[in-house]
Amino acid sequence: MPKTEIPVEMLNQEEAAAELKRLAAEIAGHDQRYHAEDAPTISDAEYDALKLRNAAIEARFPELIREDSPSRRVGAAPSEAFAEVRHAKPMLSLDNVFSDEDVGDFVTSVRRFLSLAPNAELMFTAEPKIDGLSMSLRYENRRLVTAATRGDGATGENVTANIRTIAEIPQHLPSNAPDIVEVRGEVYMRRDDFLDLQKRMAETGQTFANPRNSAAGSLRQKNPEVTKSRPLKFFAYAWGETSEPFATTQYEAVRRFGDWGFRINDRMVRCASLQEMLGHYHSIEVQRAALPYDIDGVVYKVDRLDLQERLGFRSRSPRWATAHKFPAEKATTVLTAIDIQVGRTGAMTPVARLEPVTVGGVVVVNATLHNEDYIKGIGNKGERIRPEGHDIRVGDTVTIQRAGDVIPQILDILPEKRPGTSVPYVFPDRCPVCDSHAVREEGEAVRRCTGGLICAAQAVERIRHFVSRNAFDIEGLGEKQIEFFFNSDKAALKVATPADIFTLRRRQEALPSTLDASLERLENIEGFGPVSVKKLFDAIDARREVALSRFVFALGIRHIGETNAKRLARHFLSFVTLRNTAEAAKMPGGKGDPGNGEWQEIVGVNGIGSIVAEALVDFFAEEHNREAVKNLLDAGVTPLAEEPVGAVSSPVAGKTVVFTGSLEKMSRDEAKAMAERLGAKVAGSVSKKTDLVVAGPGAGSKLKQAADLGIEVIDEDQWFERVGRQV
Ligand code: IVH
Repeated sequence: MPKTEIPVEMLNQEEAAAELKRLAAEIAGHDQRYHAEDAPTISDAEYDALKLRNAAIEARFPELIREDSPSRRVGAAPSEAFAEVRHAKPMLSLDNVFSDEDVGDFVTSVRRFLSLAPNAELMFTAEPKIDGLSMSLRYENRRLVTAATRGDGATGENVTANIRTIAEIPQHLPSNAPDIVEVRGEVYMRRDDFLDLQKRMAETGQTFANPRNSAAGSLRQKNPEVTKSRPLKFFAYAWGETSEPFATTQYEAVRRFGDWGFRINDRMVRCASLQEMLGHYHSIEVQRAALPYDIDGVVYKVDRLDLQERLGFRSRSPRWATAHKFPAEKATTVLTAIDIQVGRTGAMTPVARLEPVTVGGVVVVNATLHNEDYIKGIGNKGERIRPEGHDIRVGDTVTIQRAGDVIPQILDILPEKRPGTSVPYVFPDRCPVCDSHAVREEGEAVRRCTGGLICAAQAVERIRHFVSRNAFDIEGLGEKQIEFFFNSDKAALKVATPADIFTLRRRQEALPSTLDASLERLENIEGFGPVSVKKLFDAIDARREVALSRFVFALGIRHIGETNAKRLARHFLSFVTLRNTAEAAKMPGGKGDPGNGEWQEIVGVNGIGSIVAEALVDFFAEEHNREAVKNLLDAGVTPLAEEPVGAVSSPVAGKTVVFTGSLEKMSRDEAKAMAERLGAKVAGSVSKKTDLVVAGPGAGSKLKQAADLGIEVIDEDQWFERVGRQV
């Protein structure tokens, strides 16, 4: 099922943080599968799309950049099977660009960085980007001593024995080569060799998906004899440590590699202008299919090495080079239906069903239509993204593309092929799964189902949220268990809504002692057992009384995270008052209408604005939700009034605190809870309103912002000194 993605422009801070977290984990997983296991599960284009999305979110929310952000990492940590090699100079990655315009920006930024006069000459090399794996070959006294993969960029795997089996990699360099030199380049497999190898290996049942994986898998063999039997090749195009300079330009350096006996790419040229660079790119693009090896773009590098030196590096890539990736492949097909998919958070995404068509070697039958406006031809900022009249309708012939996106997307329609009978698509205003009403908030592109607590599409996610640590905190109910209970069709086991959690014990204990009923008994079900069942029931019972703020947070109302839940809980003190007020509230009908008194009371709560208030009112306007909440209370769940706000005398009471960097003595959640107990407000980003920044190791942009704003910064120990806890 395709994932529902909120466009980057539409993310709020909380969603952005969650999305960055998700992307970091997902990309790390793909890195691991790609680099360490040679078994990727997504295409390169899909991977690029994930990285692009991550970068776009980080550009919008620089304060949310994570310690473990994929933009700070290169590749994956080395696998354990081979010894580690620390690279004398890190093996970095390249930035990607996708359009001619981006290349122009790259050239401009290089010129600006170097403060070059507008007419000053600036040469670049342009060469194919080989789709293999990068390798560093270290020669000491002209003898090959170590060959290492890139690994995480700092440390790679020692694959020397295997590399020595590749005939075209020189074991010795001629006498005019430097005493120490690390020659870097790409190990790859030619397409025809790959196909032959596939045939040879077919009998063994072990095959590779493409030449790149085949090269990687062949290289990472424990037995060099196996590697020897594989047709690996190597192009030299870069270098690491050298004992002396051996060239003054990139072009010349690569020619020297050729002189020393390495294969170098014959499609490397020097370009004196942007036009020449793009010209070379487009000519290689045309030749691409006919080349004997896979490439995925063109790499541009500043030619003069002294300028490369001046330009230097960013954290993971050089400023003097960039990779211009080839665009997505496109195809034309017919749109046969539009279905609405409801994501785990209620977002309704239209999905196009297509007549099957092959794009870039993959058969495509679905494509995302993003949202309601996209179907109409309207972009995120209200701009037209397709010509007038090019709304997307069932029956249309459409062009689709697979690339800078995780799932294929529909670009445009062919109006001349539109059937005369077609009608504009009407986006549903009710959830196709649970029939609750679906609302689209102002300024939002996405329409959402409001029946979170009862909607099957959202149930597992909602229940997971409901029992999560900062909500009901029920141990023993992980995603697996929730899915089991949710999918069960037995009356004594079914958990479809949160209230069902609290009736589970009773339903189980009411089972008669028949053989049939014993199949419904939880302790007889695999993975449960009597001890864990008792633990689970006790954990559930222990939460029948719960702090009001946790209760409100657990409901998963849009925009009501922990902080807003606390604000509401502190103000209303009882759930009944909160609910009655929300139910009676009338939102402003238009300009000049302030809404009724109940509405005013909600927006008057410190920190609660009209967006949050509206989400709260919407939630209680949905009958399904009122019923789900009533069921919870009927099942004996009792929300308790909040404790009074933390000691006013605490040294941080009333202050706004930001935690950044990695904290070593407490988790982020702990730190936050502690600060809030002491009456402080915890913010996610540094602003003029911040009073104090608590910074652990690795703190980045926030530290700088704090310094710029003259805000006090302390470390974790000082924090404990201040709030008076022994460390
Ligand atoms: S230059 C410091 N040139 O692309 C820059 N890289 O996305 C070093 N690659 O890790 C890289 N062909 O594995 C360069 N002609 C080429 C390349 C190339 C393929 C790979 C290389 C690198 C990756 C970056």
